[in-house]
Amino acid sequence: MAIRYQHENRIFALDTAHTSYRMKVDDYGFLLHLYYGGRVYGNMDYLLTCYDRGFSGNPSDVGNDRTYSMDVLPQEYPVMGVGDFRNSALVIRNADGSDCCDLRYISHETKNEKYRLPGLPAVYADCGEAQTLEIYLEDKVSGVRVTLLYGVLEEADIITRSAVLENRGENSVTVEKAASACLDFLTGSYDMLSFYGRHTMERNLQREEIRHGTRSIGSRRGTSSHQYNPAVIIADRDASEDAGNCYGLLFVYSGNFLCEAERDQYDQIRVLMGLQSDLFHYPLEPGEKLVVPETILSFSDQGLGTLSAQFHCCIGRHLCRGKYQDAPRPVLLNSWEAAYFTFDGSTILKLAKNAADLGIDMLVMDDGWFGKREDDNSGLGDWHVNEKKLGCTLKELIEKVNQEGVKFGIWIEPEMVSEDSGLYRAHSDWVLRIPGREPVRCRNQLVLDFSREEVREYIFAQICGILDQGKIEYVKWDMNRSIVDVYSMENCQGKVTYDYMLGVYDFLEKLLQRYPDILIEGCSGGGGRFDAGMLYYTPQIWCSDNTDALDRLRIQYGTSFFYPASTVGSHVSAVPNHQTGRSVGLHTRGVVAMAGAFGYELDPEKLSEEEKAAVREQIRRYKSWEALIRGGRYYRLSNPFKEAFAAWMFVSEKKDRALLSVVMLEMHGNMTVSYVKMKGLDPLAAYRDTESGRRYYGADLMKAGLPMPVELKEYPAYQIELVREA
Ligand code: GLA
Repeated sequence: MAIRYQHENRIFALDTAHTSYRMKVDDYGFLLHLYYGGRVYGNMDYLLTCYDRGFSGNPSDVGNDRTYSMDVLPQEYPVMGVGDFRNSALVIRNADGSDCCDLRYISHETKNEKYRLPGLPAVYADCGEAQTLEIYLEDKVSGVRVTLLYGVLEEADIITRSAVLENRGENSVTVEKAASACLDFLTGSYDMLSFYGRHTMERNLQREEIRHGTRSIGSRRGTSSHQYNPAVIIADRDASEDAGNCYGLLFVYSGNFLCEAERDQYDQIRVLMGLQSDLFHYPLEPGEKLVVPETILSFSDQGLGTLSAQFHCCIGRHLCRGKYQDAPRPVLLNSWEAAYFTFDGSTILKLAKNAADLGIDMLVMDDGWFGKREDDNSGLGDWHVNEKKLGCTLKELIEKVNQEGVKFGIWIEPEMVSEDSGLYRAHSDWVLRIPGREPVRCRNQLVLDFSREEVREYIFAQICGILDQGKIEYVKWDMNRSIVDVYSMENCQGKVTYDYMLGVYDFLEKLLQRYPDILIEGCSGGGGRFDAGMLYYTPQIWCSDNTDALDRLRIQYGTSFFYPASTVGSHVSAVPNHQTGRSVGLHTRGVVAMAGAFGYELDPEKLSEEEKAAVREQIRRYKSWEALIRGGRYYRLSNPFKEAFAAWMFVSEKKDRALLSVVMLEMHGNMTVSYVKMKGLDPLAAYRDTESGRRYYGADLMKAGLPMPVELKEYPAYQIELVREA
């Protein structure tokens, strides 16, 4: 049993294959956290200590016992107003204006399946793979009930957490802050690893010690954002790729979030992951509920590599869904960097012909095919085909593309409207904007109020009207600005950021139900909404608008800590690169793009015959490795921010096939030789390099490494396929 409850001492024990989680209901009904980490066998309540601590308050029901204080004890769901002065998981404003919610244990229930969350993405599991623990806590005065949800995926070493807040009282209350996970550490020094960035330079790794005070990351942009990913790792100060304790927290949500890490007065550490409290004041009338999005937790004592593998597995098998969850992804040619807004039907057809000639599976017509959309200043919201521009109907264009033997995909940005559009002229009250103030523009567009059903329904009908016109097999769902004017003409203020996100999820769910065969790729100016929430609907996401191979190496490195390669949209583009001006060789660009869902973002017409032959060969190689890249275990072999080369590898589950990829980053005169140490091979097995025919033992390649050639060129790259000898 993954979940056990001991009546005598009111202890909950959750166990997975390699981890344990313990909590206890104390004598007063507070739910205390005892332990999370590597597998243990006891109750762990011996860890609790109580001392009289000056200026730390004592709840009235402990009487004269000055040693009992919520300010010091480790907790599962700390609240504001009961004497804990650290960061709270929950802040409730009562009808009388007070900020207090004294949660005490009522009862609990276990279920033999993984819980689901209404309207929100969440980890799922087959019957027998997971169990749920629901713990009910209540504040007697306000009648606020909190259901803490724990999903335990035993084999996957995953514990998920969420919370449902319900007003069972007679007065309205307002939720001012709500997290879904809190981890209290009684002892230890830890680093926090977070992933910061900006548009076209997302998910750079930052590692820093958690010191006194609070270190927080989050988003107020309406999306999870380019600037901070909703994912952190709490690791032993000396934890490395291959050793040490580390905890991952991954928020399954695509909107505003807040993650706080705090070291308190007694050197204890508290980490919270949940909804952003700014721009959020969620009223709960009597009888109403609010579901806090899920946080996925995992722990490894084998370092960051194993922790990443656990998250990759969880996302690939328990979060992504649909036809493409487990199927080869089409190799794409996207029109964006090939033509931007300057194209007509014949441009698209020419791209399709060239795609067919190169062995590319699908042509994606990016932005510019609808309404009045010759640049990014107009047309959003007018989802009708610009047949004049295309020179034919969409159906005819798709048929012609298909006749070339190429599938057809299309770009949309449903959440947006341009002021210069028919939609805005007809429904200017459908946008988010504050009455009496001019809205803040961003890419010269405004955000539609997706918290309103009528707005979603209208756009849904428009988008279906497009998707029904022909055989569209892929949709790129874009979202190209941050949300500033958080105000809805219809909805209740304070709810908007959350309800907007639920509206987007509702739209996506309906789209998936109606078009189960369409592959949807998420996008928000590249990686501005690259998160576990979106991956529930879109099994791949355009990783970054930056297609420069060297920058991409670093972006993909940061992305790899939580997200598997199958989720990373990754294309070869032209040189000089449009974002950096850098020219990296075609082979190297291919090697980098093959660490994800592969494709091209260029005009093949501009390639020489020699380059075309190289592209054909790239595609042939990618297809032969596609299953390994999508389903194999991914290993980081170097840190491209610090080392002279970037290296990573994929190893099949049976360890009988592996693909090593290396890009040399530094060039100097009289170069030293770089040795790349591999991982994940069977040490005693012999492996053959399929290209050179050379044979090596797995142990040799892992312990001594493989020397990389010294070549007189910039950024050379190598791919070595290894096959285990019988
Ligand atoms: C965003 C996307 C790009 C492209 C453009 C089109 O920036 O990330 O890939 O689709 O929009 O406007």
